[in-house]
Amino acid sequence: MSDTKPARASWSGKWAFILAAAASAVGLGNLWRFPYLAAKYGGGTFLLVYVVLVFTFGVSLLLLEIALGRYTGQSAIGAFKAFGKKYAFIGIFASAIPFIITCYYCVIGGWVAKYAASYIAGASSQIAGAPADFFTGFITSPVESFIWMYLFMAAVMLVVGLGVKKGIEKSNLVMMPLLILLAVGIAVFTLTMPGALDGAAYYLVPDFSKLAPETFIAALGQMFFSMSLAMGIMITYGSYVDKQTSLTASAGRIAGFDIGVSLLAGLTIVPGAFVALGSAEAVAENSGPSLMFVILPTVFDQMGGMGAIIGLLFFVLVLFAALTSAISLAETMVSIIMDGARWSRKKAIIAVTVFLFAVGTVVNLGYNGFSFLEPLGAGSSILDLFDFVSNSVMMPIAALMTCIFVGWVVKPRDLELEIKRSSKFVAEKAWVAIIKYIAPVLIVIILVAYVAAQFGFFSM
Ligand code: TRP
Repeated sequence: MSDTKPARASWSGKWAFILAAAASAVGLGNLWRFPYLAAKYGGGTFLLVYVVLVFTFGVSLLLLEIALGRYTGQSAIGAFKAFGKKYAFIGIFASAIPFIITCYYCVIGGWVAKYAASYIAGASSQIAGAPADFFTGFITSPVESFIWMYLFMAAVMLVVGLGVKKGIEKSNLVMMPLLILLAVGIAVFTLTMPGALDGAAYYLVPDFSKLAPETFIAALGQMFFSMSLAMGIMITYGSYVDKQTSLTASAGRIAGFDIGVSLLAGLTIVPGAFVALGSAEAVAENSGPSLMFVILPTVFDQMGGMGAIIGLLFFVLVLFAALTSAISLAETMVSIIMDGARWSRKKAIIAVTVFLFAVGTVVNLGYNGFSFLEPLGAGSSILDLFDFVSNSVMMPIAALMTCIFVGWVVKPRDLELEIKRSSKFVAEKAWVAIIKYIAPVLIVIILVAYVAAQFGFFSM
């Protein structure tokens, strides 16, 4: 099918594709979101569920999306439409997800920018003196918190507008390894602190009494978010892959890279939180979006003279990872609008900018002007709602529709052949079984169990 289409932009090689996909995948999801979810949902229990999900379902879905993109030569909406106009709705549904994510991603981006700037300005001991107050004071500030978010958005939209994608990809090559080195260093340091090994045990050893429907839904949502799945991105990336590149090896490498960064970030932050808070219960209770911002400054402070510099390096690199992911999220929104509404690039960029500024403002208001709104129960925010709707509701549904579509409507045959054009496909049978049966059943069970638990049919 794709052979008859006009030539399309393509990656310069196998590694260019893997790196671009990994750069999209590695972001705040790994560094900020994964550690706090692991801390919250039982440490080792969450870790085990997450690893199993990634290496069965996650890799399979990633492979499916890349193969679907390469086979049809189209981005999300077009790829589904290629099998019939009536299927376009799946692509449209998936494409709506980046519009929700980017808005709150930029709010967190603003937090990271503020921390990076504060460390640059030498405020490390001021932050560490009262980390929780510093954080709360900042996110609830009626002016400053907005300014940092707008700055972050402006940087993102500027790069999207200039289209300097190449430069970003190149600098990723330097920044990502640096970030990993630093994360290893901080992890090693943290683990030598008194009490940290108990924290590491909590992080690594599963406690099966902690298994709850929420653990599964949180791990599933995190998997989609972190691997940039179920929102059409990987279909688009797959459409740029040439016919020689092995899809199976690429999917394995991207997943390995992504989970590696997450595991490392968790190994730093969860034991750090344990040192600061003293017990597994306290860690689980206090864990949420603030974990990175409240706990790490204390850890840096205890490093003595080096702490200020390490803290600075850390937040600058997290900022960089956040920026690159936000840029590719915004770029996705722009291309969805261009394809869907047939608008010019310029018009689409203006629309995305206006949308981001408006909706981001509402999300950020959730921490000050609108803080009386607690959509998910006491203490929750608009950001939590956005996060929940996109990751725990919409992405599982998008993935479910994709699996049913490929497994039962178009049949996996064509995609199997597409995958086998470029490599052996050892796990073919398992892959088909996951797409046709296991993944759909699993998603339905998780969603139903979760809803049931919400309505109190059983307690957790
Ligand atoms: N995976 C990214 C992260 O872990 C977030 C993300 C989700 C993303 N979807 C995306 C990034 C699409 C770029 C493009 O932070």
